Amino acid sequence: MAKIKKAYFCQSCGTQSAKWVGKCPSCGEWNTFVEEVIRKGGEEAVPSVGGGASIRVKPQKIEEVSYHTEHRFSSASGELDRVLGGGIVPGSVVLVGGEPGIGKSTLLLQVALRMTGKKILYVSGEESEQQIRMRADRIGMRNKDVFVLTSTRTDEIIRFMDEMKPALLVVDSIQTLVTASLDSSAGSVSQIRETASELHRYAKTRGIPVFLIGHITKEGQLAGPKVLEHMVDTVLHFEGDRNYGYRIVRSVKNRFGSTHELGIYEMQDNGLREVANPSEILLSQREDNMSGIAIAATLEGLRPMLIEMQALVSNAAFGTPQRSSTGMDLRRMNMLLAVLEKRSGFRMASKDVFLNVAGGIRVDDPALDMAVIVAVLSSERDLPIGQKDAFAGEVGLSGEIRAVNRIDQRISEAEKLGFQRMFISTYNRKGVATTGKNMEIITVSRVEELWRKLFV
Ligand code: TYD
Ligand code: MG
Repeated sequence: MAKIKKAYFCQSCGTQSAKWVGKCPSCGEWNTFVEEVIRKGGEEAVPSVGGGASIRVKPQKIEEVSYHTEHRFSSASGELDRVLGGGIVPGSVVLVGGEPGIGKSTLLLQVALRMTGKKILYVSGEESEQQIRMRADRIGMRNKDVFVLTSTRTDEIIRFMDEMKPALLVVDSIQTLVTASLDSSAGSVSQIRETASELHRYAKTRGIPVFLIGHITKEGQLAGPKVLEHMVDTVLHFEGDRNYGYRIVRSVKNRFGSTHELGIYEMQDNGLREVANPSEILLSQREDNMSGIAIAATLEGLRPMLIEMQALVSNAAFGTPQRSSTGMDLRRMNMLLAVLEKRSGFRMASKDVFLNVAGGIRVDDPALDMAVIVAVLSSERDLPIGQKDAFAGEVGLSGEIRAVNRIDQRISEAEKLGFQRMFISTYNRKGVATTGKNMEIITVSRVEELWRKLFV
């Protein structure tokens, strides 16, 4: 009989240690090491890779490996399909992370209910069957092919999967699962690792796709060992500002597609509604011209979006000016303010600057820069800019306006939404094929020039 094997694991990053340590040498967190049983006496926790199994496994010529072009199937949600890279890949494991209450369970139950003609097993370790049924009624959809199971044991789940042969498995959440081969409590690093790898193995051998819901820590990381993220094929983040109804699915890792795609939803009384035209929700409704607002023509993945940048610049009441930004990288904003100060002679050092991306979304596109500069200048001088102006350009450290990619797509989206003037970099000029029919294209090469063309 094998000896009981124990080790200490950092509950934050999953680092293993033979002895207890106060500070994790890997992630630097304090007091995160907890003793966990790795293997119960008597049984093999991990099926041996060598030994008997190796008879079946042998190296193959890559040319001779056959495969069927992954026939993806639709998740019945256009937004989710896009983020997944065109649908669900059989045998893939998708981890969906997000803060509590953001709507992960709702999203996946809705996906299950919408997918008709396929058996789906929805396993919950968090809610009872009645609760899930109530949620399904709230969403207002029926699907006789959806089966619910409240269980936290992987052997049980796998047994039902063998019986039922579902086309999709949803597990809510990975932190509630336990495997019979380990003693440690649910949600511990070794349980998460082991249960995920059992389901992963099952998914791969049977070709059944699995959606795992995962909790995130207060730092915004997926709770559990980093190895969990390495193990799965796709990691999605479900996020949003709780004060707004909008929710965004973003892929942070995807073996079967791009990680630039976004899916946008709106949480309503009866579930999540897909938002097919994001620009409309991201441009706030305003009647008259207000200062401190500029519209940026951004691109997330392949999808152009017009978003509203709002800035508020005021005199700093205390010695150190405050700088804060919602929806955009603060360091990027500080850099842009320094460029304004140093290269263009605008006094920013004694000003508080607040920046906000309307709609509560987070954007990461250098083309935002020009709109940020315009919003800041507009607020500082209290000069509104035209409501029909849009901007797309990156700002370099010497105050130059740099070209951005796919300028045509940005322009045509702005044109579609009724904008009349678009400010772009001079270096983008030759990339513009359609010299706008209803759109005036204005090129600028430096921040001062932008200032002159807009405000003077
Ligand atoms: P939930 O899916 O339980 O979140 P998670 O699984 O990420 O913890 O979503 C819970 C929130 O969503 C809750 O505050 C209620 C809200 N909600 C709606 O607004 N409309 C709905 O139709 C549903 C089902 C939930
Ligand atoms: Mg939930």
